[in-house]
Amino acid sequence: MTILTTGGCGYIGSHTCVELLNAGYDVIVVDNHDNSSPEALRRVRKITGKDLKEYDIDIRDKEALRKVFQENKIDAVIHFAGSKAVGESVKLPLKYYDNNIGGAVTLLEVMAEEGCKRLVFSSSATVYGDLNPSPLNEEMPLGDTTNPYGATKAMIERILKDLCISDPDWSVVLLRYFNPIGAHASGLIGEDPNGIPNNLMPYISQVAVGKLPQLSVFGNDYDTPDGTGVRDYIHVVDLARGHVKAVAYAADHQGAEIFNLGTGRGYSVLEMVAAFEKASGAKVPYAIKPRREGDLASVFSNPAKARDVLGWQAEFGIEEMCRDAWNWQSHNLNGYK
Ligand code: NAD
Ligand code: WQD
Repeated sequence: MTILTTGGCGYIGSHTCVELLNAGYDVIVVDNHDNSSPEALRRVRKITGKDLKEYDIDIRDKEALRKVFQENKIDAVIHFAGSKAVGESVKLPLKYYDNNIGGAVTLLEVMAEEGCKRLVFSSSATVYGDLNPSPLNEEMPLGDTTNPYGATKAMIERILKDLCISDPDWSVVLLRYFNPIGAHASGLIGEDPNGIPNNLMPYISQVAVGKLPQLSVFGNDYDTPDGTGVRDYIHVVDLARGHVKAVAYAADHQGAEIFNLGTGRGYSVLEMVAAFEKASGAKVPYAIKPRREGDLASVFSNPAKARDVLGWQAEFGIEEMCRDAWNWQSHNLNGYK
């Protein structure tokens, strides 16, 4: 079976390519390298000892995308490609609506034309909004999204559900990721953010390795055990393996199905700092700062549906997440550069 991954050169995509190749799938990657380095796929080849095909194109380029489907027999698509920085999306909303929604619609149009109607989509826990209490489950109503990035994820979910209603041949799996962190155990691939990281784990890693002076902890007066924000961190390799299960599920189901991919366990910012210091032996100096606008106190999943229906559950704990993040960061000081 041949799987096309859009955005397959990025953080989650590259780890998923490894797991797909290891599971015996043929893999094709479409990526415009807006937020990734081609070096990632060279390393995917090194890890797996297998080859994959890559196209340096933008998914909004309909003609180029059509050609990919015409040159290959593609059985299913995993759609990672998109822009993902929440803060940037507030400043550049049109970039997000164009790239994320425009990109998804173009991809779906080409898939429909070419008769490939199996899709796994990278959604996000952000679609639950701020009113649903954790643990979050797939039955809960979608919440209000507070930024354009989140709005694109909620809108694409809606588009995919409407598509499945309009045409029963479609099989779509919506994966709502919680907070992916860590890296492949080889230390060859990992998260390589542009500039100063926005997310907690890459920030902690860069402080630990001496690239940044200290972590700002955004608020210690939340209603959580130590006052700092609680999130459901998930090892990126576990997340990647969830996609392999989702692709297999999509192969013999119809309609749209939603799954949380999380561990079900929340950790606070200070617990993450302590776990990282323990795993790395490095110090992570921090200072308590005001809350970051739009942040919630506590967000974690109920992962039971993925376990019961997909037969998937997270295997790695916080120790492995921190160990592998450190292994990647300390061996690749400047990421892929
Ligand atoms: P990433 O930025 O590392 O990967 C996205 C990839 O898509 C990049 O390689 C980028 O170059 C490519 N891309 C972007 N626009 C494109 C376009 N128009 N045409 C072709 N390629 C394009 O991000 P990631 O962390 O690997 O996330 C993958 C997906 O998962 C995204 O859709 C993201 O919104 C979603 N997601 C990520 C997280 C997270 O915390 N990392 C959480 C929930 C959901
Ligand atoms: C985690 C915790 C912060 C940085 C975001 C997106 C979400 C999803 C994943 C894609 C929070 C605290 C962080 C720092 C800190 N992406 N923090 N100092 O906000 O849960 O989710 O990324 O879909 O949509 O919103 O992740 O890693 O930014 O923050 O104290 O320098 O760490 O306040 O409690 P978040 P995060």
